[in-house]
Amino acid sequence: MVSQSLSAVLSSPEETGTLAGRLAQQLNPGDVLHLIGEVGAGKTHFARHLIQSVLEVHEDVPSPTFTLVQEYETVRGPLWHSDLYRVTSTGEIEELGLTEAFDTAICLIEWPDRLGDLAAAKALEVRLDPAPEEMARRMTVSWSDNRWTDRVTAWLS
Ligand SMILES: Nc1ncnc2c1ncn2[C@@H]1O[C@H](COP(=O)(O)OP(=O)(O)O)[C@@H](O)[C@H]1O
Ligand SMILES: [Mg+2]
Repeated sequence: MVSQSLSAVLSSPEETGTLAGRLAQQLNPGDVLHLIGEVGAGKTHFARHLIQSVLEVHEDVPSPTFTLVQEYETVRGPLWHSDLYRVTSTGEIEELGLTEAFDTAICLIEWPDRLGDLAAAKALEVRLDPAPEEMARRMTVSWSDNRWTDRVTAWLS
């Protein structure tokens, strides 16, 4: 049950990238982010900038559309970036080892609706929706686990 949410308008891709990088500074292994929104909403853009702001060694951050999972070593600990769009069963997700990673890594999950019963209640939801201006997005951040309250408030204020 989601109990709290905050929203903000991100007026450009650069603003989204900067904000994602600021969130990265607060993440620890065991933190799960659900990135929600239609194709082209900016989920991968958000994840890419978040990851690149904490990578130990600079590298490209491709969309994990085909690999399903990409793993990174970051200054905040191990990080998994996953895109579950093409997944058709929760068995496939278990084979990826994703549910274990929810405890041991920072996990960024695109298309988290595919998780079904495997979804972590502790996750922070980041939803990106179209805004009236083409290069803007409305971001809505929601959570029910109190682990996020102080961090999200600091992040968005
Ligand atoms: N304010 C914004 N925030 C994030 N992305 C934006 C914004 N405005 C335009 N874009 C563009 O939208 C596209 C989003 O693509 P992508 O991140 O791959 O989407 P998704 O992973 O949600 O399918 C990128 O080309 C990005 O530059
Ligand atoms: Mg994507």
